[in-house]
Amino acid sequence: MHAFLKGGSGVTGSTGGEKKKAPPRVLPWIEKYRPKGVNDVCAQEEVVAMLKAVLIEGKELPNMLFYGPPGTGKTSTILAMARDMFGNLMKERVCELNASDERGIAVVREKVKNFAMTTANSQRADGKKCPNFKLIILDEADSMTKSAQEALRRTMEVYSKGTRFCLLCNYVSRIIDPITSRTAKFRFRLLPKEIQYNQIRHIKEVENVNISENAVEELISVAAGDMRRAVNFLQSLHRLHAEEITPDDVRDVAILCPDGKISEVVNSARSKSYDNLVSKVKGLLQDGYPACQFMEQLMDAIIADEGIEDGQKVNIINQIGKADHALTDGSDENVQMMAIVSVLQRELSR
Ligand SMILES: Nc1ncnc2c1ncn2[C@@H]1O[C@H](COP(=O)(O)OP(=O)(O)OP(=O)(O)O)[C@@H](O)[C@H]1O
Ligand SMILES: [Mg+2]
Repeated sequence: MHAFLKGGSGVTGSTGGEKKKAPPRVLPWIEKYRPKGVNDVCAQEEVVAMLKAVLIEGKELPNMLFYGPPGTGKTSTILAMARDMFGNLMKERVCELNASDERGIAVVREKVKNFAMTTANSQRADGKKCPNFKLIILDEADSMTKSAQEALRRTMEVYSKGTRFCLLCNYVSRIIDPITSRTAKFRFRLLPKEIQYNQIRHIKEVENVNISENAVEELISVAAGDMRRAVNFLQSLHRLHAEEITPDDVRDVAILCPDGKISEVVNSARSKSYDNLVSKVKGLLQDGYPACQFMEQLMDAIIADEGIEDGQKVNIINQIGKADHALTDGSDENVQMMAIVSVLQRELSR
């Protein structure tokens, strides 16, 4: 649940006779610096323009589908909109369901039904006008099964009068056509470097983070458009380092495989010694580098390597793609890394 839904106070009441102050709650920076209103949402111009038209010109809010890579503001944007629309009525007007909740068809139907049944009026306690519908946010909608999505589509229709739905997901291709065709779709793009840079600079100043300019550049390059990653890394680095944070510290916290290790793997693949190659890869896994990170860096290295022919690059990257797909389907990291380096060796030792 999000910080402002919880009330955000750092002091809790005690159960005993005397009242004790709880230690101040340290908010994760991704919550602390989450946009408060639609005006604070950076980039994503298309959706922001539509939401502002609803807020300012009173246009109808459609059912919506937000999709795009992690950390680009999907959850933040809809929560900011809900806050702007409902103000202090937010708790009673917004129902947020996400994949960590039970997500069977029955549960979604039941929860949505109970929530949508009572009608909403159009007055806020602060006297401002407020839309007379409720908002249901379904986070990680792409993790719902097809049949659950079918049921959801029915539910959306039945309660269309008093509710609006906003579905959030990473992969729009996993959402069934009857839903995509009934919602206004908005693609969230990776955040441009300068926007991330401004946000990181802002947090750095407010929180007094001791980080070098080069390390900020490295942080933004490592985060690759995912603002959650950038902000989380910055907070971890701040906690870990009293002295000035350097680009190497950033690479450490991002668990990037050192470039040298990637070239060692490529060189062993060239040298035809399979045992050596296997031990290099096992070493990487034992050192705790995640397979997806290795794959991403290996792919960059292969693309940049002028000593590898285009046809070979195609075969290697094709295998990296298959492994990536298999990993998202729950395959074993070790097996997939071996599959990749086997192809790598076949191609490079020809
Ligand atoms: N467009 C943006 N404007 C301002 N802050 C942003 C934006 N996008 C991301 N952030 C920051 O990054 C954090 C993560 O964003 P958010 O949770 O909205 O991402 P998401 O797109 O919902 O990701 P996921 O697909 O993983 O759920 C937020 O707390 C916010 O501080
Ligand atoms: Mg989200």
